[in-house]
Order: sequence, then C-alpha cells, then structure tokens
Amino acid sequence: MTGRRRRTKVFLGTVLHFTGDPWVPGHEGEDDPDAYHLYDPGALVVRDGVVVWSGHLHECPRDFTDDGHVVDHRGCLIVPGFVDPHIHSGQVDAIASPGGQLLPWLRDYMYPAEMRFSDPDYARDAIAFFFDRLLESGTTTACVFTTTHPQATDAFFAEAHLRRLRMVSGKLLMDDDNGGTVPKEYLDRSVEEAEEECRRLIGKWHHTGRLRYAVSPRFALTSTVAALRMAGDLYQESRQTGRPLWVQSHLAENLDEVRRAMEKFRDLDPRSYLDVYNKCGLVGPRNMWGHAVWIDDADRALLADSRAGVAFNPTSNLFLGSGLFDLDRARHAEVRVALGTDVGGGTSYSMLQTMNEAYKVVALANTYPEHLEEKDRKTLTALRAFYLATLGGARALHLDRHIGSFHPGREADFVVLDWAATALLKRRTEAARTFRERLFALATLGDDRAVKQTYVLGEPARPRHQ
Ligand code: GUN
Ligand code: ZN
Repeated sequence: MTGRRRRTKVFLGTVLHFTGDPWVPGHEGEDDPDAYHLYDPGALVVRDGVVVWSGHLHECPRDFTDDGHVVDHRGCLIVPGFVDPHIHSGQVDAIASPGGQLLPWLRDYMYPAEMRFSDPDYARDAIAFFFDRLLESGTTTACVFTTTHPQATDAFFAEAHLRRLRMVSGKLLMDDDNGGTVPKEYLDRSVEEAEEECRRLIGKWHHTGRLRYAVSPRFALTSTVAALRMAGDLYQESRQTGRPLWVQSHLAENLDEVRRAMEKFRDLDPRSYLDVYNKCGLVGPRNMWGHAVWIDDADRALLADSRAGVAFNPTSNLFLGSGLFDLDRARHAEVRVALGTDVGGGTSYSMLQTMNEAYKVVALANTYPEHLEEKDRKTLTALRAFYLATLGGARALHLDRHIGSFHPGREADFVVLDWAATALLKRRTEAARTFRERLFALATLGDDRAVKQTYVLGEPARPRHQ
C-alpha cells in the first residue's frame, strides 16, 4: 500500500474543465452546460503524472482518498494548465518596447533583442527566465518561436525537457532581410544550411519526451519563396511518417504587412496572404497561425477545412495597433481558435490578463452595428475564455489527446488559482452572486498573483532561474 499511496495524489478544490466549446450560436452571453464539468468541492486524482479520476469530492472512490496523498486546495480553483499557442522566447528582454506598429517595432526592437541569443550564456539565462514566467502564470504548454540560432533552440528544448514540459517549438527561419530591416548576421546563411539545422533539431528533439518540433518560418516578409518551399517540403514529408511536424508562423497581422506580402509574392498569384503559405505547402493540421486579423471568409474556410489553428493575441494586437481579431467569424467558420499572449508583442505572460483583453476586443465588435439587438451583441463569457485558454488551445494544436482537460489518461498539468489573491479580487469575489460572475472577475482582475501553484505531471513547478 505504501508504494501506491506515494504514487496517488488527490487534489481537492473547485475543479473546472471542458469537454467542448461552451459557445452557443445565437445565444450570446450564455454557455452550453454540456460543454464543461464543474465540481465544487471537487477532486482531481493523479497517479504517475496522469489524471486517473476527477469529479465531485463526495463521489471520489474511497480507495483514492484513503490511500492517496491528499493535497488540499479547497477555496481555490483547479483548471488544466494554460496553453499559450503563440509566444516568443527570444523577446524576453524586449517586452514593452515602444516601437509603434509591427514593421518598425520589429526592426528597432525585436531583431536586435533576438540577436543577443547568439551568446550561449545569455541564451541559457534568458530561456530559464522565460520558462519561470510561463509557469508562474500557470502556462504549462506553449507553441514558441525561438530565434534563428540553432544553439539557442537546443538550449530551449533542453530546458523544456529538464522541466518535463509539453512544448512545441522550432528555430526561426529567416533568409530575407525585408528591405534591409534585418541585420544580415541574424539571417540564415542559406536555405540549404537552414534545412540541415532544422533536420538536426528535428532528429534530436521532435518526440523527445513531451517535445514537438514546429517548422517556423517567421513570416512571409523575412522568407524567400525558396525558404517557404523548403519549410513546406519538410512539413509535407513528415506527414507521410508517424511523426508529423507542426508549422507556426505569422499571418495577416498588420495591413502594411499584408500589402507588402501580396506585392512580394505576386509571381505566385496568391488569392490572399494565407494563399502564399498554402502555395508553398505549409497549410494543414498542426499549423498555428499567429494573429490572422486581416483574413476573409475564404481564408477561414481553408483554415477550418485544413484543421489548422489560429492564435487570437489580443494584448499584442492592441499594443501594436494591428486590428481587432474577429472571434465571431472565426467561430462561425469553425476555425480552431486558441488564445495567445504573443509576448513580446503581447504585454503580459498571464493568460488571465489575455482573457481580460480578449473580452474587450470582442466587446468592441458591438461598436458600429447599433441596430444589433441585445441578444445578438457579441460577448466573451468567462467560461468560454477559460475554454480557449485550455482545451481550445490544446485542440488548436492537436494536443488534446495529451493535455487540456482532466479526462482520465490526460497528462496532469494543472494550475491552482486563488480567488482571493489580492484585496481587490477577494472583495469582488465575495460580492459575486454566481460562479460565472466569480470566474469573470478572476479572468478580468487576475494575473500571476492569482496563481497559487502550477503543477507539471502532478508535481509542483519550481522556479529555476538563478
Ligand atoms: N511578425 C513577424 N515577426 C513577428 C514578431 O516577432 N511578433 C509579432 N507580433 N509579429 C511578427
Ligand atoms: Zn508573434
């Protein structure tokens, strides 16, 4: 019994997780009660890092409570670890840079910041700092852009592996200086060399433990057509194997970017920005397209049909003045949408703060159509925001067999959130009349201070940055 007792852990608290998207078309502000499980008081039972049971505490089999090690988080909310589908580890020291809109901001702040990762000591230190920020915010899985440096990408994967995290990442591919805006020494030396580096990284890290590799052309403006085709070939080739790759990039974030991309790739005769990537073989399942602000219904249909994911990055889209992501249209088209931070374009690592901004972006969709009846006015419920930050992200990344919910067999990555972490949260929470209202206050007022503990495979995550 002693061995089993040690191996089984029973976490007590208010347990919330999802089976689907709670959005109900035509009933704004409501949530589908069949899309989520809420157990209060609830229990989450973990053995060997895997969920074996979750439910109401009074229904928890005695075997678990009698023999397991009980960890009492009653008074707190337990949800699956947050999934951040779009973030840059190379921008740790460039968050909050006053660079204006996308292209000058990249030129003046991001490329110079990312170039520092050529120094292995700096890279190791910054990457450890980056993971500490994710985990203190309750984020246990992310789809991450590193830099163009293969060594810094090795360091990223090594640190993620050491922390036993489920991460998707890849070396940035950049071989075009975009009109002289990228220093030459930051670019890949050639498409052939970049391909070799990718193949080496894929061989070393793809499917090492919980890690997965994403082919990562930065965006159309910093890649030649040859590089995009090489990236597309890597992806397509992998689809014939049992270990297909992921693809991540930026898509139609900013109007100036879209105009330049259409002009640059006119020889491909693209229908849209997305079509540039599609013509190079990059569009399909396990894609994660950042932003997708300036896309149309034909793009949405292609994204949905190809089971590609899209990252809605509200803090970044506002910070860089990129535009308002149309969550409603994306949902109607059945695109797999996730909620992302896009740090350093985003201004917070916290997925709670990201929910806060997402709510405002959705609310702004009501500004112009004054004729909308109240029942049709767009809103983002707190339950749906939590869905997007957990199971929605896992689905968009095609990782929901592993993470994103508490169904038995899922990896036990979860976060414990304290309703009373700050005086303001505590007071607002006490005044809330319903669970949904309480959850909304947490999504709006919460940040890393509300994270009491993050667990990875059932173990508390500890900071490692010195
Ligand atoms: N487009 C190309 N690179 C980037 C980047 O680093 N951040 C954002 N937000 N958009 C980009
Ligand atoms: Zn980005």
